Amino acid sequence: MSVQNYISNEKDSLVVQPILTKNKGILLEALVKQENIKLQAQLFLYAEDMQKLLVARDVAVKNEKEKNASYKQLEKFTLDFMILMKQKEKSHKALELSHLDSLKRLASAAEFKDDDTGTHIIRMSRFASIIARAYGKNKNYCKLLEQASPMHDIGKIGIADDILKKKGKLTADEWECMRKHPEYGADILSGSDVPVLKMAEEVALAHHEKFDGSGYPSNLKGEEIPLSARIVALADFFDAVTMDRCYRPAFSDEKALAMVKENNGSHFDPDVVKAFLSVSDEIINERDRINMEN
Ligand SMILES: [Fe+2]
Repeated sequence: MSVQNYISNEKDSLVVQPILTKNKGILLEALVKQENIKLQAQLFLYAEDMQKLLVARDVAVKNEKEKNASYKQLEKFTLDFMILMKQKEKSHKALELSHLDSLKRLASAAEFKDDDTGTHIIRMSRFASIIARAYGKNKNYCKLLEQASPMHDIGKIGIADDILKKKGKLTADEWECMRKHPEYGADILSGSDVPVLKMAEEVALAHHEKFDGSGYPSNLKGEEIPLSARIVALADFFDAVTMDRCYRPAFSDEKALAMVKENNGSHFDPDVVKAFLSVSDEIINERDRINMEN
C-alpha cells in the first residue's frame, strides 16, 4: 500500500484529524519532491501521531463503554430503588388500612351500643362530606372527613350500657359520665401520624363543642373548634334528630331543619349552617338512599 493510500484509508477512521493535517501536508510535499530522508522522517512522525490518535481513540471508546456501563448500573439502581419504595409504600398502606379497619370496627361496636342498626355513622359521615363540599373544601378534605367522622363517638365504648340506653332523663352523675366520651375517643385515636386518624382524633375530641362556647369538654368557642368538628356537630345532630331513639321518636325533616336554624350561631357555626342549608335536599335524599340500602 502506498503512503498516500494508507493516509486516505486511515484518515476517515480517526476521530480527531487536525493533528495529522500538518504532517500529512509535509509528507505529501516530500512525496512529490521524492526527498527520501525527509520522507522517512515525516513517515515516522506521521506514524507516531497516528499511534497517539489510535490510543486516544481506544481510551475514548473504553471510556464510552465504561460510561454506558455506569449509566446502565445507575438505571438499575434507580429501578431497584423505585421498586423498594413502592413495596414500602404498599406495606405502609396495607398497615394503615388495617389500622383504620380495626378502628372502624371499634367505632361500629361503639355505635351498636347506642344505635341498634349501626347506620347512623354511615349517614352522618356522608352528610359531613356533603356539607364540607358545600362549604368549599376540596375533594381530598371531604374524603378524609367522610373516613374520619364515623369514629367521632368511638369513646362511647367506655360508657356503660345502662347510661347509653337509658330511656328516661340522665342524672347529673350520668351526664358527667356521658360527657367523658369525647376524651375517651380522642385517647383511643391519639398518637397517629395517619392523616385520617389525626382528623378523627380532633373530631372525636371536639364534636360536642358549641360555637358560642357552651359545649364540652373544653368550652371551645368559634374557630377554636376545628372545622372538621364544627361540620360533624351539625351532620351528627341532623341525623340524630331525624332517627328514632329509645327515648323519643324521630323528628320530621321540617322540624329538624327548623332546629338547625334555631341553633345557628349558638350551637352551630353560621357558615357551616349556610353550607348545610344549601345542600339539605341532597342530604335528605342521601339519607333515604342509605336507609333503603341498609
Ligand atoms: Fe358524641
